[in-house]
Amino acid sequence: MNILVTGGTGYVGSHTTIELLNKNYNVIIVDNLSNSNEKVIERIKEITNRHVKFYAIDLLNEEDLNQVFINHKIDAVMHFAGYKAVGESVKLPLKYYTNNLVSTLNLCKVMERFNVYKLIFSSSATVYGKPASFPIKEDFPTNATNPYGRSKLMIEGILSDLSNSNKNWKIVSLRYFNPVGAHESGKIGEDPNGIPNNLMPFLTQVAIGKLPELKVFGNDYPTKDGTGVRDYIHVVDLAKGHIKALEKIDALDNYEVFNLGTGRGYSVLEVIEAFQKATGMQVKYKFVDRRPGDIPVSYADATKALKILNWKANKDIFDMCIDSWNWQQNNPNGYN
Ligand code: UFG
Repeated sequence: MNILVTGGTGYVGSHTTIELLNKNYNVIIVDNLSNSNEKVIERIKEITNRHVKFYAIDLLNEEDLNQVFINHKIDAVMHFAGYKAVGESVKLPLKYYTNNLVSTLNLCKVMERFNVYKLIFSSSATVYGKPASFPIKEDFPTNATNPYGRSKLMIEGILSDLSNSNKNWKIVSLRYFNPVGAHESGKIGEDPNGIPNNLMPFLTQVAIGKLPELKVFGNDYPTKDGTGVRDYIHVVDLAKGHIKALEKIDALDNYEVFNLGTGRGYSVLEVIEAFQKATGMQVKYKFVDRRPGDIPVSYADATKALKILNWKANKDIFDMCIDSWNWQQNNPNGYN
C-alpha cells in the first residue's frame, strides 16, 4: 500500500513514517519544510533501510499536490502538516487559519478527485479546552481556547461533514495528548525552532547546558504538588497508534475520533524527577508565574483506542526521558 504522509519530515510525521516503513508500507512524504529539515529523509532511510519518496511542496498549492496523486496511486493519507505553536497562533490567527484549513481543504479535494477516501488526521487534546472532569473521554464537549486549537476543531468538523457527504470516506481523527521522546536510535527527534515552548525539549536543553534553567510555570495549581499535570506519551507509541488506526480503518464508522494518551498524568516536578533519575543529570529549575492559557490538568481516557484499535501506549516516563535525552545528546543542535 502507498501511504501519503503530509508533514512527514516533522516530529510526529517522521516517527510515524518509520513505523509505516517497518510494516512494509510504501511512503510518499509531502512537506514544505517550514518547520522541519530535509535531513530527516536521510535519517529515515538510515534507520529503516527503505526508500522514501519526498516532495518539497506546499499543500496550499493544490496543483502541486494534484501532481503527486498523478505520480502515485495513493491508498491512504496521514495528515500531519500544520502549524502548531499555540502562542504564535494567538498573535497570527490568519496565518494559522489560512495554512491549517486551506491545506486540509486542498488535500481533501484532491483525495476526492482521485477516489482516495482513507484519511488519518493529526488532531490534539487541545480540542477539549478546559475539561470539567478527568480522565478525558472522546465524547466530552469540545472547546478551543486559541486559534491553533480552533483550527484543529474546525478541521475535525470539516472532516465529519465530509464523511457524511459520501459514505466512501473513512476518516479518523487522533487526538494526541503530550508527545515526547524520540526514536531509540537517537537519529530523529523533536527539533524545535529557537527556544522551545514545550516542557521536554526545554528540559533537555537545560540539561545539556544550552539554556540556564527551566522555568516551572506555576506551583499553585490544584494538583498533588501544585505544578501542571499532563499525559505525556512516547512519540513511537503515538506513531504506532496511527498504524493501528490504518489497519482497522475499513471496519470503523465513516468518521471516528480516538484519544491517544497513556491515561496517566505526571506533574512538571514528577517529569523533572523522572528525567534526573533516568539520565543521572541534574536539572536546574525555578518556579515562575503560571503561563497564560495553561490548564491545570489534562490526561486521557485511552480505553476507546484499546477496545477498538487494540492499541495502548507501552513506553513509560523513563523511556520518554531516556530517548529524549539520547536524541538531544546525539544532536545538540537538532538537524543543523
Ligand atoms: N511547562 C513548564 N515550563 C516550560 C514548559 C512547560 O513548566 O518551560 C509546563 C506547562 O505549564 C504544562 C506542562 O509543562 O503544565 C506541559 O507543557 P507543554 O508546553 O509541554 O505542553 P502543553 O500541554 O501546554 O501543550 C501541549 C501541546 C499543544 C496543545 C496542548 C493541549 O504542545 O500543541 O498540549 O493539547 F495544544
